[in-house]
Amino acid sequence: MKILLIGANGYLGARLFLDLRKKFEVIGTYHKSQLCADFIQLDITDAHQVREVFEQYQPDIVIHPANHASPRPAANDPQGYQALNQQATNHIVAAANTVGAKVIFISSFAAITPGDIYGQLKVQSEESVKKTTAGYLIIRPSLILGLSPNTENDRPFNRVLKCLDTNTVGEFDTSWQFQPTYVGHVSAVIDVAIKKNLFNQTIHVTSPSVQTQYSTAKDILAPFGVTVKPVDKGLTLPLQECDEHELKALGLPTCSYQEMLTRIHEEIQNRSDYQL
Ligand SMILES: NC(=O)c1ccc[n+]([C@@H]2O[C@H](COP(=O)([O-])OP(=O)(O)OC[C@H]3O[C@@H](n4cnc5c(N)ncnc54)[C@H](OP(=O)(O)O)[C@@H]3O)[C@@H](O)[C@H]2O)c1
Repeated sequence: MKILLIGANGYLGARLFLDLRKKFEVIGTYHKSQLCADFIQLDITDAHQVREVFEQYQPDIVIHPANHASPRPAANDPQGYQALNQQATNHIVAAANTVGAKVIFISSFAAITPGDIYGQLKVQSEESVKKTTAGYLIIRPSLILGLSPNTENDRPFNRVLKCLDTNTVGEFDTSWQFQPTYVGHVSAVIDVAIKKNLFNQTIHVTSPSVQTQYSTAKDILAPFGVTVKPVDKGLTLPLQECDEHELKALGLPTCSYQEMLTRIHEEIQNRSDYQL
């Protein structure tokens, strides 16, 4: 089973690469920063390049987490934003269909009730991905926490880690309520879904516990003696609740909030195991 993992240098991509290469042959791509010498360069907004890489490597499965992970960059470059978060998905699906590959697309809870450009383009990309002839899987995570080989990208978990590394008291929001997703749970769900040949599904991957950015940062950092400050940022994002029923019905692994915290504490204590 050959997997082409696009954006293997990103926060989520790098952890998926680390976990899945223990089970499958995984080829990783990067765009700007080459986190690992084995990664190949690919700009997915270039349809020609995408097709060439797919034809050269002939993957069985393509995993696609290479999106802008928030709506913010759309303000400065709306065209570039759409090129990555929507048109590139079409290039990937078209190239996958030429080589008969399945596509696993990392979407978001934001696609459930899209309130901004980020959620709207996730919905459009999900519709594109459903046109993959060999089969598709749409993974919808909520806010993702857990150690990745990429600790540099400005992602929510890396902001928590920075407080520990710089011994600073960070401020974290109390207004947005969500059910966090453990990064290792995303890898585990993809691993089992591939082994069970479970495709043509949209799967919500999350823990069943409602938290805030403040409560998660506090719980992650408390064992290390680092405190955080609560701040109400007045975020109006809706609470999207999801129980474990869907994962259990599909025979996929679940992950409680407590299990996520235990794993994250172990990861932080064994950081050298999470490098590429
Ligand atoms: N992190 C979360 O809490 C969270 C929650 C829900 C959903 N998600 C979804 O998970 C996915 C990954 O998010 P993340 O947090 O890991 O984001 P990230 O760290 O910013 O990773 C984004 C990746 O996209 C790549 N990329 C950007 N432009 C590209 C291009 N033109 N061609 C090829 N690759 C390109 C980046 O490579 P370069 O850096 O080299 O440009 C990077 O590897 C996204 O789809 C996001 O919407 C994330």
